[in-house]
Amino acid sequence: MAARLATLSVMLAALAQAAPQAHGPVVCLEPDTKYQGYDGIGVSEAFQRSLVLHELNTASQNLALDYLFSNISGAGMTILRNGIGSSPEDGFDHMKSITPTAPRSNSSQLNYIPLPRNDEYQVWLSYQAIARGVNYIYADAWSADGYMKTNGTEIYGGYLCGVTNTSCSTGDWRQAYADKIVRYLEDYRALGITIDYVGFLNEPDLSTPYASMQSDGQQAADFLKVLYPSLKKAGLQTQIACCDGSGWEQQRERLTGIEAAGEDHTVGLVTSHGYSSLPSTPFATPKKTWITEWSTFDPINYDWYTSEGFQSDGLTWANHIQQAFAVSNVTGFLYWWGAANTTDNQSLLFVNNTAEVSVTKRLWAHAHFGSRFIRQGATRIGTTVTSDSTHSLNVTAFANTDGTTAVQVINNGNDTETVTLEGFSAHRKGGAIHTYLSNQAHNLTRGNAVTQSGGRAVAQVPGKSLLSFVV
Ligand SMILES: *[C@@H]1O[C@H](CO)[C@@H](O)[C@H](O)[C@H]1NC(C)=O
Ligand SMILES: *[C@@H]1O[C@H](CO)[C@@H](O)[C@H](O)[C@H]1NC(C)=O
Ligand SMILES: *[C@@H]1O[C@H](CO)[C@@H](O)[C@H](O)[C@H]1NC(C)=O
Ligand SMILES: *[C@@H]1O[C@H](CO)[C@@H](O)[C@H](O)[C@H]1NC(C)=O
Ligand SMILES: *[C@@H]1O[C@H](CO)[C@@H](O)[C@H](O)[C@H]1NC(C)=O
Ligand SMILES: *[C@@H]1O[C@H](CO)[C@@H](O)[C@H](O)[C@H]1NC(C)=O
Ligand SMILES: *[C@@H]1O[C@H](CO)[C@@H](O)[C@H](O)[C@H]1NC(C)=O
Ligand SMILES: *[C@@H]1O[C@H](CO)[C@@H](O)[C@H](O)[C@H]1NC(C)=O
Ligand SMILES: *[C@@H]1O[C@H](CO)[C@@H](O)[C@H](O)[C@H]1NC(C)=O
Ligand SMILES: *[C@@H]1O[C@H](CO)[C@@H](O)[C@H](O)[C@H]1NC(C)=O
Ligand SMILES: *[C@@H]1O[C@H](CO)[C@@H](O)[C@H](O)[C@H]1NC(C)=O
Repeated sequence: MAARLATLSVMLAALAQAAPQAHGPVVCLEPDTKYQGYDGIGVSEAFQRSLVLHELNTASQNLALDYLFSNISGAGMTILRNGIGSSPEDGFDHMKSITPTAPRSNSSQLNYIPLPRNDEYQVWLSYQAIARGVNYIYADAWSADGYMKTNGTEIYGGYLCGVTNTSCSTGDWRQAYADKIVRYLEDYRALGITIDYVGFLNEPDLSTPYASMQSDGQQAADFLKVLYPSLKKAGLQTQIACCDGSGWEQQRERLTGIEAAGEDHTVGLVTSHGYSSLPSTPFATPKKTWITEWSTFDPINYDWYTSEGFQSDGLTWANHIQQAFAVSNVTGFLYWWGAANTTDNQSLLFVNNTAEVSVTKRLWAHAHFGSRFIRQGATRIGTTVTSDSTHSLNVTAFANTDGTTAVQVINNGNDTETVTLEGFSAHRKGGAIHTYLSNQAHNLTRGNAVTQSGGRAVAQVPGKSLLSFVV
């Protein structure tokens, strides 16, 4: 009996040593629960913001590009969204078309010109981005050229002539628009740049004073049945993305319309913005889905946390990105502009041609979900959170194919939480478990979790912070 008691006390002592000293939330990884894949995060420099970047001196150019795309010192973005021009001219904020003047008729050859200023410096930007590890180029048109539309202009909405409910005296322009898109993709191919996805609409639920073209699902389907075979005929591997609805429900409506018209087989990627309605339940589709644009309309704000839910704070965007992956089942998330020279809210970096490069905290929120931690081919896996008495944590995890896992823990509460991570292999080969912390005072500051036997790691997560564990 005495011997057995002694054994028991030895066992208890061992248990006490192994158990976490601190009490707090426990995050448990569930690697066998597998969700969607991961394509990455990204931005756009459309409407000549690529030219703004190009105007910087070389040092500032590299600084800004590294902040966005470097997987060593920046956010490790892997997706770039370029704009396909529809403007007849090249003034600042316009994207000039490769077919700027109307041909004789809808059935004549289009009047092609070479990519204007190398596509407003988007060719240069694409090379720069690819050199830093970008995997996907998405080229998107905001509108067809004015002469192809009911409106006669690229601005203020209007419809592509030839789709349902249009009747243009100049005829049906769907094939012409498809031909123009094919030529644009071929121009890039000739420069050695593969465009992975191509879109022909942007916020088709809106009519705006800049390039815009309206479309519902049926009307999108009417064009898809022309564009899809045109891409195939040209031998292009580029897949079609649709439809960049201004919000999640606007996009759901268009996707449903395309499905009802029987043209969903032509769509390779479903794309939505986050403005008009927030990302919510996943679209009922097996296709990959990206949020391809979203930003804030607050005045310029560099902060991580100013007040609860303040729309341009870094913490708010950390939550948006995490929820998009965790709740809305996206495989990619793109902010609007990466870098711009306007003194407003629409970019992650503010630059001007006297060389300043200023970083918002929203950039660092993105970085936790970038390729520094989450690699191509990763899969989002399950997590459970227990003992979270203040319900302040939101957690996601992505398992990489190399055996590492990146875990993003957001503490939306005010108080520091001592978080214990469990559920990773106890047999993992030595080495520290690194943590990366972002909040008002930190930008991905690297630390070490306290590792314990039995496959546990403990780290402090301050209130209003995002901490990534990389195991
Ligand atoms: C990092 O970027 C480089 C290009 O600069 C690329 O070759 C490499 O594959 C990337 N690594 C990861 C892990 O994404
Ligand atoms: C066309 O443009 C005008 C303004 O130029 C606008 O009022 C109108 O709503 C637009 N859309 C259509 C479908 O005509
Ligand atoms: C076409 O117009 C009719 C009548 O206005 C409308 O009921 C229908 O929804 C429209 N269809 C599309 C695809 O816009
Ligand atoms: C031009 O429009 C007419 C009238 O809608 C149509 O019959 C013809 O097929 C169109 N041409 C092309 C090349 O699509
Ligand atoms: C999530 O998206 C993937 C494609 O990326 C799809 O296969 C899967 O069915 C979707 N899951 C849900 C729950 O919608
Ligand atoms: C910046 O935010 C303000 C305030 O919400 C908004 O009125 C303004 O339009 C935004 N600026 C731009 C250029 O988007
Ligand atoms: C941004 O840069 C462009 C191109 O140089 C210039 O035309 C525009 O005026 C600049 N905008 C601001 C707000 O500085
Ligand atoms: C560039 O930005 C800095 C910082 O906001 C400002 O002081 C400077 O005047 C700007 N330069 C130009 C040319 O806009
Ligand atoms: C973190 O980045 C912000 C800009 O977002 C900068 O102002 C601050 O100095 C940086 N802090 C550290 C510790 O690097
Ligand atoms: C955290 O996740 C829960 C469950 O998905 C959600 O209800 C809550 O809104 C999230 N919190 C934030 C700040 O996004
Ligand atoms: C966090 O602090 C803010 C401001 O001090 C307060 O308004 C809020 O109620 C606190 N939240 C919680 C959950 O205690």
